[in-house]
Amino acid sequence: MERTEVAYAKLNLYLDVVGKRPDGFHDLKSVMHTVTLADTVTVNAKLADYSCITVEMIDSDIPGDERNLAYLAAEAFLEETGISAAVTVRVEKRIPDRAGLGGGSADCAATLRALNALFAYPLSKEALLSLGARLGSDVPFCILGGTRLCEGRGEKMTAYPMEDMHFVIAVPEDERVETPKAYALLDGAFDGYKNDDGALHEMLFSFFEEDGLDGIYNAFEGVILPMSPQAAALRSRFISLGARAAMMTGSGTAVFGVFDSEESARYAAEDIEGAFVCESAPPYEGK
Ligand code: C5P
Repeated sequence: MERTEVAYAKLNLYLDVVGKRPDGFHDLKSVMHTVTLADTVTVNAKLADYSCITVEMIDSDIPGDERNLAYLAAEAFLEETGISAAVTVRVEKRIPDRAGLGGGSADCAATLRALNALFAYPLSKEALLSLGARLGSDVPFCILGGTRLCEGRGEKMTAYPMEDMHFVIAVPEDERVETPKAYALLDGAFDGYKNDDGALHEMLFSFFEEDGLDGIYNAFEGVILPMSPQAAALRSRFISLGARAAMMTGSGTAVFGVFDSEESARYAAEDIEGAFVCESAPPYEGK
């Protein structure tokens, strides 16, 4: 049996790091938004005496072994459900990796969704989300998609309806930053994170509701853009090409511009080599 899932990239429309936790992770306030730039994940599974997992990556140098989040997703799913199966995951890669677009998390989430559907939903949505949270901070959001305010490490989610938007995304070729390094830079930049007293929360909501995109914010920009001249230049370029807003996503270094129409997005993208034109993607349907 086989099932194909679309694995959407995510953008952070708002990302603040509000504290460092005893477990070494950070508490966030983040508005995540899925977009139609996507990988395609096809999962083939059949019951077997012994479990065996193969991950095939198309158009990607990422290895398909135990370091791959799709592999880890299949392994964790079989362990959690006690199912013994031969699983093959084929990932057609389009989302640039190590760019803040959540590509690995999207493939991980798509593998979990596909396996749960193929085996007639042995895991409830809650169980799937908590399994996802063990695999990566962004995975719970990537299981659901749409637009959500994500708190804690990212696993506490509130649906956050927003208008559909048109985006252009560009990734600087030589300025990839590993996520732990980006967090270490933030730790070094602050004496201590702001205490979350609820004021931030309120501000966030009023920004998005009353002022459209004026509230878009990414705490990582302050530490990543000064050392990423290409990303900083792309951000300015988007604004000069008529974007309503432009920002880096996640811990970088992909940058996105928000445009009023598909036409204006396409027009801007013509000027930027390797840019992706995409739009808001809806939440995933299904159980
Ligand atoms: O959870 P994930 O594997 O995506 O996290 C990658 C790294 O990013 C972690 O090892 C940690 O250094 C950092 N991180 C963090 N706080 C978060 C999410 C990620 O410190 N909420």
